[in-house]
Amino acid sequence: MHKTIDPNILYFGTPVVLISTLNEDGSANLAPMSSAWWLNQSCMLGMSSKSQTMLNLQREHECVLNLPSSNLVSSVDRLALLTGRNPVPEAKEEMGYRYEPDKFGTCGLTSGSADLVKAPLVKECPVQLEAQFVKSHSFEEPSSLVATEVKILRVHIEEELLMGGKKNYINPEEWRPLIMNFCEFFSLGSKIHPSRLAKPFMDANYNN
Ligand SMILES: Cc1cc2nc3c(=O)[nH]c(=O)nc-3n(C[C@H](O)[C@H](O)[C@H](O)COP(=O)(O)O)c2cc1C
Repeated sequence: MHKTIDPNILYFGTPVVLISTLNEDGSANLAPMSSAWWLNQSCMLGMSSKSQTMLNLQREHECVLNLPSSNLVSSVDRLALLTGRNPVPEAKEEMGYRYEPDKFGTCGLTSGSADLVKAPLVKECPVQLEAQFVKSHSFEEPSSLVATEVKILRVHIEEELLMGGKKNYINPEEWRPLIMNFCEFFSLGSKIHPSRLAKPFMDANYNN
């Protein structure tokens, strides 16, 4: 039996991304988000236009999408309810957010240099995607949310995630993304069924 309901959020479970960007003074900001999806070499990011991250991305046109594995959950949780924006926007202040200029220090993660963008990598994240701003699309008013398309310029992968030493194939059985599911943290279970879609992708990549 189904019921019709009116939930506040529809966060059905997506991977957590730590977005690093540069602030106006050249320091780094790091923010957790999870409304992200990928197509080909592009990613669409859903975030508030009032976040420091989106202000930075629209000004600098660059970021790094760092994907934490599930064992980094406590570091990610330490970034919750923090913003790099000063003063803190009123709505966020009411939710208990505070300004934090040193997000890396607060969560205990380490910054490293990227190759093509000035924003830093998060060294502990097994996946680091250097990216360039393409365009933003506003959600229907009165929301401050924007969907922002970025183009992936460079992919850094922890070597242990590669399929049998292959150069360009990530082994999904090794990758353990951190998932946000209705504002709670989850990890993935194991593979449950062979996938018919995987074969043509695998064949196309196998010689690389
Ligand atoms: C696990 C997690 C996932 C989040 N996902 C999103 C999201 O998808 N979109 C968003 O706007 N905010 C999301 N937030 C809230 C942002 O982290 C928050 O807006 C924060 O202030 C952004 O930091 P900044 O202002 O320094 O950019 C998430 C927070 C956590 C802890």
